[in-house]
Amino acid sequence: MAIDSILHEQRQFAVPEHFAANANLTASQYAELCAWAKADSEGFWGEMARNHLHFETPFHTVLDESNAPFYKWFLGGRLNASYECLDVPIKQGLGHKTAIVFEADDGTVNATSFAALHALVCQVANGLKQLGVGQGDRVVLYMPMGVQGIAAMQACARIGAIHSVVFGGFSARALADRIQDTGAKVVLTANEQLRGGKTLPLKTIVDEALGMLDNHAVTHVVVYARTTTEVPMNDSSSTVRDVAWNDAFASQVTQCEPEWVDAEHPLFILYTSGSTGKPKGILHSTAEYLLWAKLTMLWTFDIKPNDVFWCTADMGWITGHTYVTYGPLASGVTQVVFEGVPTYPHAGRFWQTIQNHAVSVFYTAPTAIRALIKASQQNADVQPNQFDLSSLRLLGSVGEPINPEAWVWYHREVGQGRCPIVDTFWQTETGGHMIAPMPGSHALVPGSATLPLPGIAAAVVDDNGDGLPPGEGGLLVVQRPWPSIARTIWGDDERFANTYFPKSLGGRTYLAGDGAVRCVKTGYFTIMGRVDDVLNVSGHRLGTMEIESALVAHPDVAEAAVVGMPDAITGEAIVAFVVLKTNPEPSQWPAMQHTLSQWVAAQIGPIAKPKRIGFGDNLPKTRSGKIMRRLLKSLARGEAPSQDTSTLENPAILQQWMQQFGVNA
Ligand code: WT7
Repeated sequence: MAIDSILHEQRQFAVPEHFAANANLTASQYAELCAWAKADSEGFWGEMARNHLHFETPFHTVLDESNAPFYKWFLGGRLNASYECLDVPIKQGLGHKTAIVFEADDGTVNATSFAALHALVCQVANGLKQLGVGQGDRVVLYMPMGVQGIAAMQACARIGAIHSVVFGGFSARALADRIQDTGAKVVLTANEQLRGGKTLPLKTIVDEALGMLDNHAVTHVVVYARTTTEVPMNDSSSTVRDVAWNDAFASQVTQCEPEWVDAEHPLFILYTSGSTGKPKGILHSTAEYLLWAKLTMLWTFDIKPNDVFWCTADMGWITGHTYVTYGPLASGVTQVVFEGVPTYPHAGRFWQTIQNHAVSVFYTAPTAIRALIKASQQNADVQPNQFDLSSLRLLGSVGEPINPEAWVWYHREVGQGRCPIVDTFWQTETGGHMIAPMPGSHALVPGSATLPLPGIAAAVVDDNGDGLPPGEGGLLVVQRPWPSIARTIWGDDERFANTYFPKSLGGRTYLAGDGAVRCVKTGYFTIMGRVDDVLNVSGHRLGTMEIESALVAHPDVAEAAVVGMPDAITGEAIVAFVVLKTNPEPSQWPAMQHTLSQWVAAQIGPIAKPKRIGFGDNLPKTRSGKIMRRLLKSLARGEAPSQDTSTLENPAILQQWMQQFGVNA
């Protein structure tokens, strides 16, 4: 596959001198670590793990490759993730230090120390045990962003249970699928969630989800009262017992011995979209994941004891796992945890929050930056320069490629030209950063994630796995094993191996699913987006097949195809081409569009609603029956298809779609 690269970015931003002077990783240290990892991978990773993690029992084997691509690391080692995140900082004397500054949606602020969080985690851990949760059992969280949610994740880790967080933006149907697939025993939720001044009835959605399942393993639903709103609670006469959070946890003792688990013991399952209709339950294990969370905090975020770190991601995504729940705590740093949205009550909320809590390292998504650029063009009061942002020293970006315009604005207006930006490329599957600038080492180029982290053997290859020279776009792969790759897809080892370590590349090379190109001059990587049928809408990963399956599940829909189109704010937007069983008049289209949009929201979640839905008599297909997606992509962009359409089985259908999408031949 040839991938055309269109990057012509020439601007370079050197490492600021003061930054290089104090950096955790200088240019020469970066080079040394890379060389060491290349020359002696196992020696390198073994030393990293020994130096950065507390093993109650030391490991005897760094890497076992005998069952590749199911690699095993740090065998024989026993540790506990919650011990690493709470007991270790407390033993270092940080008990009284603020671990979490919680900024609620309505602006209420409260602080939780490492010691207080430790106590809460132990109570939740003891309560979970009392509800029958043990090592290896699954617990689903459908909770608002906040201290309780983080404590619940940590509590699972403390007792060796496996958490699976479901983002509050997912529907009852999506939640039900995840409860079923994990076989969860307990669901933790709240009466409601509060975001952007709006409430979402989480507990009611959990009830709906459980009602959709004929059989499931859930025995208890624990309900945290985020607000004073009363919700119906089942009693002991029901098969699923609802328990108030306080009844389950508040009277528990505040100590709980951590379960020392194997390095490879599963830590969590997090669902993400792939190129089929069924989301993948990505499984991470304990030592690999924690090690990378800690190292990337040190290297990419250059984290220092006095930093105030703020990652704006929700804990329902991998970013909220690694850079809210685990990384900052394991680094003993104070962090801001934010319940709300960037535009409520006004689009200066991020800047105000940075000012109020003296945030020094700030990590957010390009889609948020683009939305705030737009807002600040319309309202001078919410411009970053209206706030005191002098505490900032480092900025980060994650989730999708950041366009150079947004990068430059972020650098100039938010970072005041002083703060490096780390554009971090990684994935749910990789647990933490893969390609990202080391801010004390690499000169920055807007739109480039720069270079792989030490130990990450990233490369750009063709379809056969042969390396491509700089300047030629191809597949992004990782050619040597490294600890923090996902362990499997929950319940589907075969899909894991086929998707990520395909035979076509030899079965041992990790295929990221993104296209990339290296710069001829600098060797820097630029990520060019997914090469599979995966969309990235506002930094949220959605499979086109998943949305298509949702659409065709509607009784009126015969067939559907979904593609992405570029969008100024969300990066990509969803466009659906739908063939209806009924043949409604164009005057009925708006009503049908509304119906289908609501339908998709109910099947997956509001995040998956198409921006545009078109109707036609048929989809453009080849004679072998394959939908010509490239053609649909052109139409969605409003471009006349430049592809060869001679293989189309039904060329006439094209006119219909072109007319509807306002495309002239
Ligand atoms: C996909 C992974 C990484 C945590 C949040 C998303 C895209 C992510 C970047 C970046 C270009 C990026 C890729 C990747 N992506 N970060 N800095 N530059 N693309 O995790 O939901 O697993 O999605 O997001 O396409 O494959 P995810």
